[in-house]
Amino acid sequence: MICLTTTAPDPWKARESIEVNRQWIDLVELRVDQWDLSGQELFPRAAALLAPAVENLPVILTLRRESDGGGYTGGEARRVELLHRALEELTPAWVDLEDDLLAREEGRALLEAAGRIGTRVIRSIHDFSSTPEDLPERLMRLDEAPGDVSKYAVATRRTADLLTLYRAAAEAASRRPGRERVLIGMGEFGVPSRLLPSAFGSRWSYASPAGGRPGAPGQLTPQELVERFAFREAAAGAPLFAILGNPALHSGSPAYHNRRFRESGIRGAYLAFPADDLDPALEMFDLLSLRGVSVTIPFKERVVAHLRDREGAVEALGAANTLTRRPAAADDRPGAAEGPGGGERPGAPESRGGWYGTNTDVTGFLKPLLPELSALSGLRALVIGAGGAARAVVYALLKEGARLTVANRSVQRAEKLLDALGGKGTVLGLDDESLLREPFDLIVQTTSVGMDGVSEPLPGLPVTAGCVVYDIIYTPPETPLILRARAAGARVITGDRMFEAQAEAQFALFRTLAIEGA
Ligand code: ATR
Repeated sequence: MICLTTTAPDPWKARESIEVNRQWIDLVELRVDQWDLSGQELFPRAAALLAPAVENLPVILTLRRESDGGGYTGGEARRVELLHRALEELTPAWVDLEDDLLAREEGRALLEAAGRIGTRVIRSIHDFSSTPEDLPERLMRLDEAPGDVSKYAVATRRTADLLTLYRAAAEAASRRPGRERVLIGMGEFGVPSRLLPSAFGSRWSYASPAGGRPGAPGQLTPQELVERFAFREAAAGAPLFAILGNPALHSGSPAYHNRRFRESGIRGAYLAFPADDLDPALEMFDLLSLRGVSVTIPFKERVVAHLRDREGAVEALGAANTLTRRPAAADDRPGAAEGPGGGERPGAPESRGGWYGTNTDVTGFLKPLLPELSALSGLRALVIGAGGAARAVVYALLKEGARLTVANRSVQRAEKLLDALGGKGTVLGLDDESLLREPFDLIVQTTSVGMDGVSEPLPGLPVTAGCVVYDIIYTPPETPLILRARAAGARVITGDRMFEAQAEAQFALFRTLAIEGA
């Protein structure tokens, strides 16, 4: 379920926000701490105003203190009084009360008041500083205290924290299977806990309205959850895929693959997995039974050591951008798909298998290029840049027999790249004057310069009508180099075309795994 956290400044704006998001949500949290609470008739008026908007939509009432990430700055006695009044007037399905409040006398009175009107109590703890190592014990104490739902939100500062959260969830689920919980990893590395709440034993995921203030760090909008991250499909147990990277949240891959799954009528859900460290990320992939993973910066090279098997291009390049699950061998441990919900996820493989590595960047790079130039053999090609993104480009051009020049800010890095790929070519610094004279048939830009929409790595480089200019940057869609090349009458290839071609090659692999797993 998706819960909209309305951080609107008043009930009118809250109503607007509920109406706009209604199509994607299952419940709504009214964060009344964001409202001006001085008016006498506020809650009765809010109840009347919100009634049509929340018809058939359960409401969570929350009056969060500033120290717990909320907007309430007054005294505790007044907060308790306001909570009593709001409970009476709004009669919400749930009320969120903090663990420390419930441990006190006035908290117990609120618990009773909620019980009298049939409102269920979410007993919550927020830790904005860390994921405590002893989370399982803390969660056990929370589970054992009075309340209907245990909510524990922790700051996930590292991917290892997400693993701690997952393990705490699994332990709690086996210890007290009947207790309802919402367990959240706040911040970027906790995002998988928001995309796949059931895997973390959670009843729902919180989302923020578009354009407003996020209710908590890392919250996405309801529309993003449903459309970009296939929340409903994932909740229904569709085979899972993800993009692994740092950053990974703004990648175009989730939108691309989830659109392709929907268009093809195949059950599949493609998530984002921002991670700071490879080992805990791979462990999470096993626990969540991911079937395929797209790999991006900075993990393409590091991931190679973890593959069970790989294609030749991965071997030669020393980099993979796609992981696909191989069938399990006899030495794999069974039961890895066991989750906090108890039992295996529907459609989960019986055991882990290993990862097979592919690099679709090579075909992705060549696909839009080959129709522009009938043959690459003997062509004078300039590659600007020698970083991770240049690897597949240089490899592809060498394989096709182009006459290669690699120009990079660091000449040494360009030399190392050519050496590593066992190729021959000219290596130049970006300031080398020969670049200004030498004509090229093909110019490929692989550095990050140009993403700002104003810079070029080689502003003086001559671009003529006869050459092909290929920039692998896809945000912005047209870099300054592309615009200059277009103006000069050159044929241009923009980065979105490479992105689409590599993603399509990945999708062909994921599609098969999704069909097998459905
Ligand atoms: P990626 O994996 O995206 O290629 P990378 O491995 O960090 O990222 O490589 C970035 C590329 O952009 C490199 O070629 C880098 O040049 P250096 O190897 O000399 O660092 C290049 N690059 C980054 N910022 C640059 C700048 N301001 N001017 C010129 N080149 C730049």
